[in-house]
Amino acid sequence: MATSMARLGRDLRRLPGRVARRVRGAASSPFASSAAETKAAELRRAFSAYRTDALVDIDVADFTHAVQSRVGIDDAAAEGYSADDLERQRDFSIRFRWGHNHDFGTFAMPGEMRDRHIELMANFLTLFQLPPEHLRGRDVLDVGCWTGGTTLLLAALGANVVALEEVRKYAGTAQFLATSFGLGARVTVRPLSIYGCNTDTFRERFDTVYFPGVIYHLSDPLIALRILYNALRVGGDILVESAGIDTDEPYCRFDGSLVVTHGSRESRDRAGWNWFMPSPSALGRMMREAGFDDVRSVWHAPTGRVFAYARKVAQVPICRAGLSVPGIP
Ligand SMILES: C[S@@+](CC[C@H](N)C(=O)[O-])C[C@H]1O[C@@H](n2cnc3c(N)ncnc32)[C@H](O)[C@@H]1O
Repeated sequence: MATSMARLGRDLRRLPGRVARRVRGAASSPFASSAAETKAAELRRAFSAYRTDALVDIDVADFTHAVQSRVGIDDAAAEGYSADDLERQRDFSIRFRWGHNHDFGTFAMPGEMRDRHIELMANFLTLFQLPPEHLRGRDVLDVGCWTGGTTLLLAALGANVVALEEVRKYAGTAQFLATSFGLGARVTVRPLSIYGCNTDTFRERFDTVYFPGVIYHLSDPLIALRILYNALRVGGDILVESAGIDTDEPYCRFDGSLVVTHGSRESRDRAGWNWFMPSPSALGRMMREAGFDDVRSVWHAPTGRVFAYARKVAQVPICRAGLSVPGIP
C-alpha cells in the first residue's frame, strides 16, 4: 500500500526528467522542438501514400464522387436523433464535415482539424521519446477517428488498427477510405461509442490505445479510461491528448453543451460540447485511478493542450465506490 501511494506521488508530482511538467514553445507553431518538426515532415511523407494513384479496385472518378458528395449531408434520423432531440444536438454529429486535411493528389479535402493528425503524432513521438517503429506491427485502438485521417496514418506507420467513431457517417467514411487504399485486412472501423466497448470483444485485445481529442467530449472520462485500460494487454500503453486548463492543481473545467462562446450553431460545434477539460495533473490522476502506471501528463504550451502517456503494467482492480457502471471489470 505504502509503495503504491509513493508511486502515485511520484507519477503526479515528479515527471521523469526527460519530460518537463510544462512543455514550452511559441504559440505560432504547434511544435515545441525542431525534432518534432522533423518528425512531422516524415509523417507527412508517409501520409502522402494515400493519393488516388494508390487506390485499389475503385475508379478515381467514383472515389472522388463518393468522398466529395458526403460533405454537407444532413442525416439526423440515420444518426438516431428524433425531431424532438435536434435542438440540443451537436450540429457536427448531424451534418457531415470532413475531419483532417487530405491531399488526394487529384483533389484535396480541407478538414476542420487541419493537419492535427500529423502534428499530434509528431508531438506524441517526440514528447514521450517513442522510437519511430513504436507502432509497427502493434494492434492499435484509434478512439474517435472522425473521417479517418489518424487511422490511415497509424496504418502507414505499420499498425493494425481498430478505429471507433460514435458518428456513423464518419465511421463509414473512414472504413471506405481504408478499403479504397487496400487496407481492409489491417483496418476495421466500428461505428461505436467508446461506452459500447465494455465487452469481451474489446478486452485485452490491443497493444496501444491512441486517444487524442476525445476525452473532454465525454460525460464520464473515468469510465472511458477504464474501458480503454481493459482493452489493453498487460504491457500496452495509452497516448491521450485533451483540451485542458493550464494549472498545476488537479482541476477540471466544465462547459457542457450550453456554453456558447460565439453565436452561431456552427461555432458552437467548435467551442461547445466540452464536458470535463482537465489540467495535466487532473488527467494524470484519472489515468492512475483507471489503473494505469508510469503516468506522464504535461501541459504543451505550443498547442495549449494536455498530452499524456501511460502504461498498463498489470491488471489491477478499480475503486468501485460511486462508479456509474458498477459491474465494469
Ligand atoms: C475532436 S475530434 C478528434 C479526432 C481525432 N481523434 C483527433 O484527435 O484529431 C473527436 C472525435 O471523437 C468522436 N467521439 C466523441 N465522443 C465519442 C465517443 N463517446 N465514442 C467514440 N467517438 C467519439 C467525435 O465524433 C469526433 O469524431
